[in-house]
Amino acid sequence: MIIEKPQAFVTPEFLIRQATQAWEIGGAASLRHRTFVTEQGIFPDHDRDAVDKVALPLVAISTMASEADEVVGTVRIHETDPNVWWGSRLAVAQGYRRVGRLGAELIRLAVGTAHARGAKLFLAYVQAQNVALFEKLHWQSLGAQDLHGHPHMKMRADLAAYPPIVDPARGWMALTRKRAA
Ligand SMILES: CC(C)(COP(=O)(O)OP(=O)(O)OC[C@H]1O[C@@H](n2cnc3c(N)ncnc32)[C@H](O)[C@@H]1OP(=O)(O)O)[C@@H](O)C(=O)NCCC(=O)NCCS
Repeated sequence: MIIEKPQAFVTPEFLIRQATQAWEIGGAASLRHRTFVTEQGIFPDHDRDAVDKVALPLVAISTMASEADEVVGTVRIHETDPNVWWGSRLAVAQGYRRVGRLGAELIRLAVGTAHARGAKLFLAYVQAQNVALFEKLHWQSLGAQDLHGHPHMKMRADLAAYPPIVDPARGWMALTRKRAA
């Protein structure tokens, strides 16, 4: 008798939006800790910094019976100089990577939101292993740089590829690849 290991359930629908409620903001903080402290070891104790005081947190939320369930992706954006915006701390939970284009959808929300708020330049320090992902999404490399002892690439988004998103708190529903096909 062949007993097949059941596949883990992955919700077919995700909400992509600005985090406004306490559980969403807390879920994003916890996912960042799991990713950048526990998994990648980029920060020894915690990954919080001064940017968190001014940044807009964005999230991808899994659903259960079409209701919001758990934060499974996050990124934050902030303006450093007039019309110059940065994205940082992009993370998708391990079980949700390459299933719903969540990373790509969060980048779309991040750049589109900044675009609607007047961004003329949108930048990020991208971990070296993710440069190809950003290139596919219309980002251009500006130069390699070590950050927190890890190789990064400074990259710039092509704003023409990211239509403005005026109301990020409203967001949208994204589907898994299987469901969207
Ligand atoms: C990087 C990360 C956010 C990507 O999220 P994801 O949800 O898995 O990515 P997506 O599914 O949206 O990927 C979009 C496309 O890029 C591809 N892709 C994903 N990661 C890639 C990578 N590292 N290199 C090249 N292509 C990649 C996907 O296969 C997909 O391609 P397709 O549209 O042709 O099918 C996720 O892997 C992660 O959280 N990693 C750990 C933390 C981290 O590295 N943060 C980023 C700091 S810059």
